[in-house]
Amino acid sequence: MKAEILVGGFGTRLRPLTLSVPKPLVEFGNKPMIQHQIEALKEVGVTEVILGINYQPEVMLNFLNEFQDKIGIKITCCQETEPLGTAGPLALARDKLLDGSGEPFFVLNSDVISEYPFKKLIQFHRSHGGEATIMVTKVNEPSKYGVVVMDEETGKVERFVEKPQTFVGNKINAGIYLLNPSVLDRIEPKPTSIEKETFPQIAAEGKLFAMVLPGFWMDIGQPKDYIAGLKLYLNSLRKKSSLKLAKGSHIIGNVIIDETAVIGAGCLIGPDVAIGPGCVIESGVRISKCTVMQGVRIKKHACISSSIIGWHSTVGQWARIENMTILGEDVHVCDEIYSNGGVVLPHKEIKSSILKPEIVM
Ligand code: GDD
Ligand code: MG
Repeated sequence: MKAEILVGGFGTRLRPLTLSVPKPLVEFGNKPMIQHQIEALKEVGVTEVILGINYQPEVMLNFLNEFQDKIGIKITCCQETEPLGTAGPLALARDKLLDGSGEPFFVLNSDVISEYPFKKLIQFHRSHGGEATIMVTKVNEPSKYGVVVMDEETGKVERFVEKPQTFVGNKINAGIYLLNPSVLDRIEPKPTSIEKETFPQIAAEGKLFAMVLPGFWMDIGQPKDYIAGLKLYLNSLRKKSSLKLAKGSHIIGNVIIDETAVIGAGCLIGPDVAIGPGCVIESGVRISKCTVMQGVRIKKHACISSSIIGWHSTVGQWARIENMTILGEDVHVCDEIYSNGGVVLPHKEIKSSILKPEIVM
């Protein structure tokens, strides 16, 4: 089977991290987002992953060339000359997606995280005989997603409404699809939205089905959701492979720490923390609900919560970083600084406190 991952878009909502790397390569749980997806696809027998791409293709390709040998899967790119939306890239990759087998293919948004229950998706798709299956999940705030109205028993989709202005329902498109090759006959290689054009059309013909996704789900394309998503991911990791989680009297709840990171004496870490490779966490540091990317140094007695610390940054001693502070790559926060929700662009030095959420350029 084949799969296409939609990796276009500028990832503006995840700035300043996406100023340094394309969104799919931003680490989540100490692995690039896209790696979680490719590994799960490989597990159900996908042999080739096609990246529908329109932004920084060189950076992506360098990473993926290395990666395809490591995990043994073919990864190819299909580059757009203009953004083709969420359906156009499929038409552009038509020849790659159709291998003559008549098998359905997967399509994934690159910023969704879940346990990727692809096996169940294949089984359901084969059972209903429709043309396309989308996975759906329940959320509290459906207006920022594509909302799906479906028959609870059969899964047949009655309506698909992208970003509805008024309440339609609370089951939303999870950005994970299995499509028959015939869907490609409905799409041209021009800017097209699968949510606004293709799905409503297939639904109107009664050939679109939806399956409620078991387990957790999150679109991690915005900092708040990224931080919330890490909690869900680590919780699921605890159930599936708890050996990957850190242990010890200095750990609270679910935490992952790369084996090359160094943790000083008297730290208290957790819950819901990921610490990347080569980090140095000096003594007496308190961290909770945070992602600390590769190569970061956190100096003595700093206290960090609900924040993301970008690659190779440093946080000074006694600093307090909280409330969705996002430090870009190579940011240096001086000693005793307070940051309340500061969003700091790469390569900055922060010498005075950030008292309210704001962007520091
Ligand atoms: N190749 C390519 N070209 N990819 C694109 C383009 C493009 O022009 N535009 C967007 N994408 C990719 C994004 O990188 C992302 O992986 C995916 O398509 C969806 O785009 P987002 O910008 O993240 O959309 P969204 O989060 O507002 O809404 C989508 O995802 C929701 C679930 O997270 C929709 O599919 C909603 O229906 C859905 O509920
Ligand atoms: Mg998204």
